[in-house]
Amino acid sequence: MSYRIAPSILSADFARLGEEVRTVIEAGADLIHFDVMDNHYVPNLTMGPMFCEAIRPHSSVPIDVHLMVKPVDALAAAFAKAGAGLITFHPEASEHIDRTLGLIRDAGCKAGLVFNPATPLTYLDHVMDKLDMVLIMSVNPGFGGQKFIPEALNKIRAVRQRIDEHTARHGGEIWLEVDGGVKVDNIRAIAEAGADTFVAGSAVFGQPDYQAVIAAMRAELAQ
Ligand code: DX5
Ligand code: ZN
Repeated sequence: MSYRIAPSILSADFARLGEEVRTVIEAGADLIHFDVMDNHYVPNLTMGPMFCEAIRPHSSVPIDVHLMVKPVDALAAAFAKAGAGLITFHPEASEHIDRTLGLIRDAGCKAGLVFNPATPLTYLDHVMDKLDMVLIMSVNPGFGGQKFIPEALNKIRAVRQRIDEHTARHGGEIWLEVDGGVKVDNIRAIAEAGADTFVAGSAVFGQPDYQAVIAAMRAELAQ
């Protein structure tokens, strides 16, 4: 199993964003997780496509755009244009999930669906072939620094089973990402439940030595 660590720049110093992105990539980040909040779908307001365009030259790894916005389509297209590598959105925020996934892939990005702690996995039913990633929220979206909700582990196990069944039959690759409250001391259990891609905001940017945190996470995953 190859694992990916995706530091969330929501917890970075916004006044030095380019430098933060470069530093965390040098420290070992595989993706840059980019949280987009609209003060409508979630009760917080963060960064638009111009921020993505601004950090793109500073990032040698794909930018993993997590859209917490409603409606989705216009912003998905704008982020594709702004240099996103992956774009995920919350299915209940899109009127036409199949169409939104299609427009993200047509724009050259990997596409994924995000599930809040209480969002049912039935949204996966008819779109598995259009997914490159499933993102399981282990907190309610809107803020960094929240506590991991343990019930998410059962959901991760269920998604792992669905992904394995699908890829065994149809081939392809679908990443399983987890977002919210991921730390050095729980990353191993989250991986054992079936996740392969880990968002970590406050755990990485809350420490002075990003490299030490990412190395400690990798050491846990290597056990
Ligand atoms: C929450 C965001 C997360 C957040 C995670 O709505 O989607 O990506 O940055 O932060 P931590 O790792 O601090 O829980
Ligand atoms: Zn996120």
